[in-house]
Amino acid sequence: MVVAAPKTENRLTTQIAAIAADTTTIRSLDWDRDRFDIEFGLQNGTTYNSYLIRGEKVALVDTSHAKFRQLYLDALRGLIDPAEIDYIVISHTEPDHSGLVKDVLALAPQATVVGAKVALNFLEDLVHQPFERLQVKSGETLDLGNGHVLEFVNAPNLHWPDTIFTFDAKTGILYTCDAFGAHFCKEDTFDEDLEALSPDFRFYYECLMAPNARSVLSAMKRMDKLEGINTIATGHGPLIHHHLEELTGRYRRWSNEKSESETLVAVFYVSDYGYSDRISQAVAHGITKTGVAVEMIDLRSADAHEVNELVGRAKGVLIGMPPSSGRGAKETQAALSTILAAVSDKQMFGLFESYGGDDEPIDTLQTKLQDLELKPAFDPIRIKDTPSEATYQLCEETGVDVGQSLAQAKKIKKLKSLDADLQKALGRISSGLYIITAQKGELSSAMLASWISQASFKPLGFTVAVAKDRAIESLMQVGDTFVLNILEEGNHLDLMKHFLKRFAPGADRFAGVRTRPATNGSPILADALAYLECKVTSRMELSDHWLVYCAVDDGKVSKDEALTAVHHRKVGNYY
Ligand code: FEO
Repeated sequence: MVVAAPKTENRLTTQIAAIAADTTTIRSLDWDRDRFDIEFGLQNGTTYNSYLIRGEKVALVDTSHAKFRQLYLDALRGLIDPAEIDYIVISHTEPDHSGLVKDVLALAPQATVVGAKVALNFLEDLVHQPFERLQVKSGETLDLGNGHVLEFVNAPNLHWPDTIFTFDAKTGILYTCDAFGAHFCKEDTFDEDLEALSPDFRFYYECLMAPNARSVLSAMKRMDKLEGINTIATGHGPLIHHHLEELTGRYRRWSNEKSESETLVAVFYVSDYGYSDRISQAVAHGITKTGVAVEMIDLRSADAHEVNELVGRAKGVLIGMPPSSGRGAKETQAALSTILAAVSDKQMFGLFESYGGDDEPIDTLQTKLQDLELKPAFDPIRIKDTPSEATYQLCEETGVDVGQSLAQAKKIKKLKSLDADLQKALGRISSGLYIITAQKGELSSAMLASWISQASFKPLGFTVAVAKDRAIESLMQVGDTFVLNILEEGNHLDLMKHFLKRFAPGADRFAGVRTRPATNGSPILADALAYLECKVTSRMELSDHWLVYCAVDDGKVSKDEALTAVHHRKVGNYY
């Protein structure tokens, strides 16, 4: 059943579907959710999934985003008299799933809220009213009757510190909320179309789960003990059923790969404070793009042993400034003291503001860390205005810089080990010289490219290989547009030099370069020999590059007689 929303700026619909015995999902379909920050680039909207399980007692697992208030509550009331709901299970307290708990509790004041200890504490701030509560932890069960015994599984950091999974052995459904999800809005309740889902599934993993790869593996170990999982009921995107083994296998493989890196950066933050969550995720995403591992810990809920152990393993320690007063300030102060006691002068550090209005002073902590002779990885990120896409881009690029500087020594060692003849032979593959330029809203980027090859006639298309740690990679997701500027032999050195420069995170790549906008909004370089307007249609993941296939919409040559600049290399195992 599909209930359409009244016409609003963004298309919101609700889907209700029976998914197993006594079990119904209410999926809030947010069709037009554009990327609200740099981490979500695929623009296929998203869904917020909620579940109703009716044994002799009734449990509601998660709710929805506040933007669905009327639609969701109408759908819920159409299914059940809220006065009959006995339990509201909270997988974690992020507002896209818990945003309507207060409203549901207003209709169902008798319901007991079930969640992890930290979640129940966080929820007090969201609900601002007393409520019945049941604190649960891994291995504990809740019998709804009629065979529906819910078992809870701790899954901290997936992707909030308070996350729990819930398993109903009768139906074989594991409710995981963010884990195994995807920002992918389609009518299909289940994962019928693996090919369509795969890019978003991967991208979501990279952005939200990769910085917590070890936590993914720990949670999956606990999942392995549950018998008879046949469906994963996610909080975003389709439910995983048809491709359960394949998609959980991917999580396991990717998380193992991420955890293999010996080089680790610890990112400390406070998950529900200011913009700390998104800012720290953007930094962490940048670091993981370089192959360096990240572990994120919430300063408010971490115990001293955990902090100590993580700092001991990390090559870099980054801290999102916590609040200096208010709820949890005592815990964050204690965690900061533990960090300061555990760091060593071999480590890098970096600080960024959380834009919460009451951040700990950045300079005081900076001085303390410098007195301990840690090297600053970057100038502190000070955020003076409400974080925007440009802020997240700056944070991601800062993360890339940190990762690259830590990965550098290892990379050089690896490069030297390659057979000299082979690397020279590979270097004889030559190619043209190009500048890719992209503009999306207030974000812009550019990169010198040479691994480009025409790949199809109908449509006219070519591929470009983009290293995973390139800043512009975030602007080359499926559906994104850009311009390929083709450089002219004899007139390419200035442009090449300019775009080969190492740009500081967030720096304007086009300062001092003559450009004009293409129809798709990306810059055309005035001194290019030719340009093509392109749209990304698919991407293939390789070990250290993305192979991006693009269709060409339009293009022009400025001089008919001139030739394309060609890149002749000495070796083929690095740029
Ligand atoms: Fe989808 Fe962590 O909220």
